[in-house]
Amino acid sequence: MTDAANPTPAGSKGSDAVQQHLTTRQGHPVYDNQNTRTVGARGPATLENYQLLEKISHFDRERIPERVVHARGFVAYGEFEASGKWGDEPIAKYTRAKLFSEPGKKTDVAIRFSSVIGGRDSSEAARDPRGFAIKFYTEDGNWDLVGNNLGVFFIRDAIKFPDVIHSLKPDPVTFRQEPARIFDFMSQTPESMHMLVNLFSPRGIPADYRHMQGFGVNTYRWVNAQGESKLVKYHWLPQQGVKSLTEEDAANIQANDLGHASKDLYEAIERGDYPKWDLYVQLMDDNDHPELDFDPLDDTKTWPEQDFEPKYVGTMTLNRNVTDHHNENEQIAFGTGVLVDGLEFSDDKMLVGRTFSYSDTQRYRVGPNYLQLPVNSAKNAPVATNQRGGQMSFGTDLAPGQNPHVNYEPNITGGLQEAPKTAPSELGPELEGRLIRARLPRTNDYMQAGQRYQLMEQWEKDDLVANFVANIGEAIRPVQERMLWHFYMCDDELGARVGEGLGISLDEVKDLGPLATQTLNEEETNRMKNLG
Ligand code: HEM
Repeated sequence: MTDAANPTPAGSKGSDAVQQHLTTRQGHPVYDNQNTRTVGARGPATLENYQLLEKISHFDRERIPERVVHARGFVAYGEFEASGKWGDEPIAKYTRAKLFSEPGKKTDVAIRFSSVIGGRDSSEAARDPRGFAIKFYTEDGNWDLVGNNLGVFFIRDAIKFPDVIHSLKPDPVTFRQEPARIFDFMSQTPESMHMLVNLFSPRGIPADYRHMQGFGVNTYRWVNAQGESKLVKYHWLPQQGVKSLTEEDAANIQANDLGHASKDLYEAIERGDYPKWDLYVQLMDDNDHPELDFDPLDDTKTWPEQDFEPKYVGTMTLNRNVTDHHNENEQIAFGTGVLVDGLEFSDDKMLVGRTFSYSDTQRYRVGPNYLQLPVNSAKNAPVATNQRGGQMSFGTDLAPGQNPHVNYEPNITGGLQEAPKTAPSELGPELEGRLIRARLPRTNDYMQAGQRYQLMEQWEKDDLVANFVANIGEAIRPVQERMLWHFYMCDDELGARVGEGLGISLDEVKDLGPLATQTLNEEETNRMKNLG
């Protein structure tokens, strides 16, 4: 396999033989690239003109479907260097994943930063979560950590994902992103409050890709050599610092440039100013933690740092740019199911849906053999499968010495065999329960949203309130009232300030009460009673 960022173009003769003459894809020299072959200088074109047909028909197929979300993005490459330990404690005590095992161990990475809602050519200064997806090309195969810059998400159950995205995407009739539709949905989705307080604050428009944090958001598990497991959350902190834009800053930037963030990243790498992020993890014992006021499997929550101290596990440096945007940016494919030994799923209900969705969409968007592409292949691990055929297949994963006739297993004739088990089975929690549809018992939708507001600096609070008022002001009055009730449940001041901007008083909303689909905990019930 070729280097992900430097694939040898099909038909070239290798890096030291520069192809100087234009050819067709069949290798035929092109003697005239300016004039279509016609009968006489003014006569009709002929249909057997392979050169013209190949050129135009390839052009006709230059695009693949853009990602249904995160369509605009930018890829860079680099390496991750592991710390291997915390003080004297080896990280291997908690995970047997080899990439974290030794101090100084380096792993190749590809990262794709993105925005979520706009199309492939949309503005990079939009108010939108940013994607932060890393592919680690480890010796045990690839590991993808597919996260965002805000640390939490709008919903906690995958079944709601198409709805939340439809509300955020352009109106299917007017094709304009309509705040009225967004807040119609969010006003019925109280778990979105924490994300909304982040998204409508300056953090909702990062200055560029180099100056933003990254978070795994969902809860995963680490498994050690004994099979013992911990719950884990991942956090990336930029050594460059965090910078955000106000609505006004963003408007000025996007008036002139829709791609300022990719440009900034590309140019920084070209001039050798390599951006770096430190990776921290928070760990929790692998159980449901009844003592906490939130569920550890709820991705609308963060884990308090005073109780779950972030621990440093390594640093990522980006030091190489893509050589072809389509091959590497459009065709790179990340997924939450792409894990290596020692890193595991949790029962986080978002993860299950995500894990189905990514490879499903990629088989459609890129094609069934998307994993054969250089940027997606597990370039640092031996790959040996019995998969054959399919559109655009160009390689077989034959192991050295494998009998090429035997693409099935089990066999005794020189085909592939199952890998020997080297680690004990996991000792994760035992689960039992009826098959039901139910929300997580501890929802606690308002507390962390309120705390986030309280922690903001004054200018951030002012920006948040102004953005809420401007956007929620476009919704119908019952939606405005419902949003206001949620804000009062988060924080008195937030409610009062947004209410003032919308011209709606507390008296007009305080009797709204919880949604039919919502249950309040004791603290929230008291808070509701005390409103006003
Ligand atoms: C991209 C589905 C939640 C982060 C995508 C794509 C799909 C998808 C279909 C396009 C992938 C492609 O075409 O290659 C879902 C579903 C979710 C979910 C069904 C919930 C059930 C999340 C969450 C995060 C996230 C919670 C952040 C923690 C990303 C990122 C990308 C992405 C970063 C872009 C990857 C890239 O750069 O290629 N998602 N997503 N998604 N998603 Fe999600």
